[in-house]
Amino acid sequence: MLTERAKILISENELKEKIREVASQISADYKGEEVLFVGILKGCIHFYSDLTREVNLPLTMDFMAISSYGSGTTSSGEVKMLKDLDKSICGKNVIIVEDIIDSGNTLSYLKRLLSSRQPKSVKICTLLDKPSRRKVDLQPDYCCFTIPDEFVFGYGLDVDQQYRNKKDIYILDPKDYPKE
Ligand code: PRP
Repeated sequence: MLTERAKILISENELKEKIREVASQISADYKGEEVLFVGILKGCIHFYSDLTREVNLPLTMDFMAISSYGSGTTSSGEVKMLKDLDKSICGKNVIIVEDIIDSGNTLSYLKRLLSSRQPKSVKICTLLDKPSRRKVDLQPDYCCFTIPDEFVFGYGLDVDQQYRNKKDIYILDPKDYPKE
């Protein structure tokens, strides 16, 4: 089975511990402020849920869905919005919550888009960062784990839309790479 061949990169306990740390950093940085957490579907789901429950601030929630063009593992850099936010972000502190930054194209587009809507601030919080794959100049403000250039899945991240429900993050065995 695919999950038996895959190695665990980050365990459920390591995820919990690190997310708690990042949540308390966010709570300290925004003390006395309200924050809107914007989750980018679908990969963010478990991270978003665990992170926001550890944040000790008045907060609101909204979501966006994005699709990036390109075939297989290579992204063309073009991004299309499938679902926009429900409400205006004018005057709000926004934290964009992502599962992974790879080329940086998605977040670079989103940061530009949300910054143009007159928010008070826009920051990026990512669970995983693969800086070796970056194609644009983009740094997350909060990052739980910097990882090597491996195909990872679980805890929200998919293999052909499956395995998002796994509690740990795994490295996919090359035998199981999705066919392009
Ligand atoms: C992933 C991830 C980011 C994007 C990062 O989304 O959630 O949105 O790719 O890649 P980039 O830095 O190269 O732009 P994906 O398209 O896999 O959708 P999903 O979250 O629904 O799995």
